[in-house]
Order: sequence, then structure tokens, then C-alpha cells
Amino acid sequence: MAGPLIVVGSINMDLVFRVPRFPRAGETLPGSEFHRFPGGKGANQAVGLARLGGEVKLIGAVGKDPHGEELKKRLQQEAVDISRVIDTEESTGLAAITLADDGENRIITIAGANRKVTPEAVLAAEALFHQAWGVLLQLEIPLETVRTAARLGRENGCRVFLDPAPVMELPSSLYQDLDYLLPNSGELEALLPESGDTDQRAKKLLDMGLKNLVLKKGKEGSSVFADAERKDFPAFSVEAVDTTAAGDAFAAALCWSLQAGFSLDRAVTFANAAGGIAASRLGAQSSLPTVSDIEKLQQEVGKNEVDN
Ligand code: RIB
Repeated sequence: MAGPLIVVGSINMDLVFRVPRFPRAGETLPGSEFHRFPGGKGANQAVGLARLGGEVKLIGAVGKDPHGEELKKRLQQEAVDISRVIDTEESTGLAAITLADDGENRIITIAGANRKVTPEAVLAAEALFHQAWGVLLQLEIPLETVRTAARLGRENGCRVFLDPAPVMELPSSLYQDLDYLLPNSGELEALLPESGDTDQRAKKLLDMGLKNLVLKKGKEGSSVFADAERKDFPAFSVEAVDTTAAGDAFAAALCWSLQAGFSLDRAVTFANAAGGIAASRLGAQSSLPTVSDIEKLQQEVGKNEVDN
């Protein structure tokens, strides 16, 4: 199905410190490597879609500084349309990422220019929503902007995806505008701190008007909750090098494959493979797969299943 994909979200420069393990409070720990990678959940998802062949329009903001210039250039090289990325007086967003040797991370972000991705910036790009197939959102920009984009998406018949990270409690009215909510297990708990187990939380969100909940469970794969049914999908077994942007790879692959006409089951399997590949590579945007990377992993796993 044709139509552009709109991403409204953050753009960060990731400053990555590799360590053998996470430092304890008060401890100074020598690291082993330092990297600077293009990141930010919005930009990562935009690049993830573009690398799969999607036509992507990013609404975001950077600072008038060397990081901003570099990040815009990299996005253009990935064929992401950045004509709605504004230059602001704030510094470009930053993420300090501590990456342990087992691939797990701890991330601190400074929003900077991402705060300037306002509802007005989305409304100014309203014409884009008339033709778009889908809208991808995360929570590294102001919540009001996310609400505006989700509403515009729904009103224009787009499929609206929200990756609720970094997590915060959301207004219940937002769920009615969402076709796909993509939390991990910790995020699902934080979205509904007072409700019972996973299935009960999922039911509550569906009762609030959400159409599909796709729960990302890392090494355990993912689960889809829709129409009071739950379906589980196994993960692809990979050696984790850096889990940064694995969730972004998942979101992009799910959106792209649904637009390509995959069934939801097939799209979730495809997205699981994309997340696995991203976790097996270093960096955020540098780790995002192409369609042929994903198909190759799926074929290898299929072959192993037959061989065993
Ligand atoms: O989802 C991964 C991203 O989270 C990183 O690229 C970092 O910038 C933070 O926003």
C-alpha cells in the first residue's frame, strides 16, 4: 500500500561508553571504548523505515550546532525527508549511553531541541497526514505533540503506532487514537501501575480503545493482544552486542511490513528478527537492518529448525 510514513520524534547524538559492567553508586570505573553514534528514538525509527525502503518524513528538531548539522546530514544520506526538521536555539539532543559487555545499556537523555517539537510544528505539517499510510510516535518529545500527531493521524485514516519510551503515564483518551502500542514489559507496568498482571493490563488498554497491543519481551520474543486474544511469537536467538535501538528496529519493521501487506502474525515475526539483528550490532542507527538482512536471518533460523 502506497503512502509516506511520518515519524514525529527525537533526534539525538549518542555518546556511548563501553564498560565491562555497570558502575556502582560512587564508583569510578574505567571504560574500554567510546563512540559517537547518530540516535534518538524518532530518528532511529525514521532510519529504520528508510533502510527497509519506506518513504519517510521526519518531523523533529535539532540545535544550530555541529551535532545538529551532522545528524541532519546522516538522515539525508539515509533518504529520510528532513524538510520538517527545524533548527532551534537549543542544543541538539544528547544521550549518554553506558553499554556493558553483555549488551545491556543504561541511557540518560538531555532533550534540548527535542523540546521544540511542538504541536504547532505538527499542525504546520498537517497536509502530510492527508496522504500518509502511517504515523510513528515515541515519548522523547512533548506529550502534547504526541497527542496532536496521534489525533491527526486517526482523523486522516493513518495507522498510528506509539512506542511508549521513555515511559510515562498517558491520558486514557490517547489510547483511542492508537492502532498499535509497542511497550516492553517494564513500560506496560508503568503505563498502568495499579492494574494486575500482563493479561489484565492488556485487557484494560484494549477496553480504553487501543486496537492492538504488541508487547516486546526481548529474548522471549513478543506477544500480540487484540480482540481479547493473546498470541505469542518467539524471539530470534542472536548474540547480544548492544540492545540500543532494538526496540526502534522492531517498531520500524512492524510498521513497514504491515504497509507492505504482511499479516500481523508475519509482521511481528519480521519485527522480532529486525530487533534481534539490531541487538547483535553496535550503535543505534548503525545497527538497523535492511530487508535482506532480515530475510537472511529468517532463512537461517528456518533452516536450523529443519536441520534439527
Ligand atoms: O532507543 C534508543 C535511543 O534512545 C538511543 O539512540 C538514544 O538516543 C535514546 O534516545
